[in-house]
Amino acid sequence: MSKQTKYLLDDSRIPEAWYNINADLPVPLDPVLNPGTMQPATPDDFAPLFPMSLILQEVSSERWIEIPEPVREVYSLWRPTPLIRARRLEAVLDTPAHIYYKYEGVSPVGSHKPNTAVAQAFYNKDAGIKAMTTETGAGQWGSALAFACNLFDIDLEVYMVKVSYQQKPYRRIMMETYGAEVYASPSERTHSGKGILAQDPDSSGSLGIAISEAVEAAATSGGSKKYGIGSVLNHVLLHQTVIGQEAIEQMEMAGEYPDILVGCAGGGSNFAGLSYPFIHHKITKDLDTRIIAVEPAACPTLTKGKFTYDFGDTAAVAPVVKMYTLGHTFVPAGIHAGGLRYHGMSPSLSALVEHGLMEALAVGQLATFDAAVQFAKSEGIIAAPESAHAIKVVVDEALKCKESGEEKVILFNLSGHGHFDMTAYQAYLGGELEDYAYPAEAVAEAMTHLPDVS
Ligand SMILES: Cc1ncc(COP(=O)(O)O)c(C=O)c1O
Repeated sequence: MSKQTKYLLDDSRIPEAWYNINADLPVPLDPVLNPGTMQPATPDDFAPLFPMSLILQEVSSERWIEIPEPVREVYSLWRPTPLIRARRLEAVLDTPAHIYYKYEGVSPVGSHKPNTAVAQAFYNKDAGIKAMTTETGAGQWGSALAFACNLFDIDLEVYMVKVSYQQKPYRRIMMETYGAEVYASPSERTHSGKGILAQDPDSSGSLGIAISEAVEAAATSGGSKKYGIGSVLNHVLLHQTVIGQEAIEQMEMAGEYPDILVGCAGGGSNFAGLSYPFIHHKITKDLDTRIIAVEPAACPTLTKGKFTYDFGDTAAVAPVVKMYTLGHTFVPAGIHAGGLRYHGMSPSLSALVEHGLMEALAVGQLATFDAAVQFAKSEGIIAAPESAHAIKVVVDEALKCKESGEEKVILFNLSGHGHFDMTAYQAYLGGELEDYAYPAEAVAEAMTHLPDVS
């Protein structure tokens, strides 16, 4: 065997620090606003939700933040994750492109989400917290925090978007196996949930609604519960940068440097995790790497949304941030990539797109599953529907190389496996999967509810 396929690092190569993009943004981020006063939030405003160590990370502009040893120890259960050259996909596509993927599906729960879940559970434990709340879309984030909370002896209450709760019962059982309590959202347990159900008893839920419920449950707990979030905020993206740091070292082992980086983007955490360490290169070494975020056509935040202040959640209880948004009241169609059904996008990622340092593309559900099945048949891995969005764009870029004859190096993040997403694959194989047209009217309506921050 002369051709190398896997690039592996040993435990000692688990990064020792997270990379903070805030140190290198072309323009500082706009301040986060308190949803009650619409004034810039202070660290104390976040204190009911997060321990101070995470709040300080959220606003830090230090370039490198040390990873605590107990977190690195848990990471060593699955990190460093492999970098794999997709030689069989290259052959099937008959492309001169070199395709690599960083595979985050090897974590105990099957995605990149534990990279931040373990860190968040550690800092909550360190602050003496005994219970947390969170939301989950597809169930990947909820499973990750359930796994992490169990390791650090913290109780967890999960609000799971109703459409996913129904489509993915096994994810719920997984969370319960780790000891978490799981509720379908909207639920009758919170004011936000009751409000939504009063308007629409059949609401399929959304990440925005589930966030409202989880935030409310923590904020009204009198300090006994804190909230954990799976994406969007700076500290979450920060914790994911272990992905890109390892990938840089592994691409060096392969003797190549990516011309194109690709990742799917829901709130932006796996994409940022892979790409931010490369953006550091792009800025400091003046490279022209193309960095592409891929989102669903049914929820096209970066490609069709507006860069403006909006609430992070549907019931307007979460902080107001400047980001690309489709409007916080927008409820996306029930596509199978539940983790990509979010109206907004991380503020730092939004700013990088706005400043032209990265680009975004939207793809349809059917084309995404075509690519996912092609990937499964060539590389063997059945991707999470979210990650499949990245595969679709990688296939397109590799086919462009075939036409032009260019030997480009493409690196993408395979953020998770789809072993709990068989109903989605079943629908695809049975010819029952739908494409959803861009919901222009619903977005236009949601845009009329943007907060006035003048
Ligand atoms: C496997 C997988 N990839 C991607 C995402 C999208 O989230 P993010 O944009 O924060 O990476 C999710 C969210 O649930 C996910 O489960």
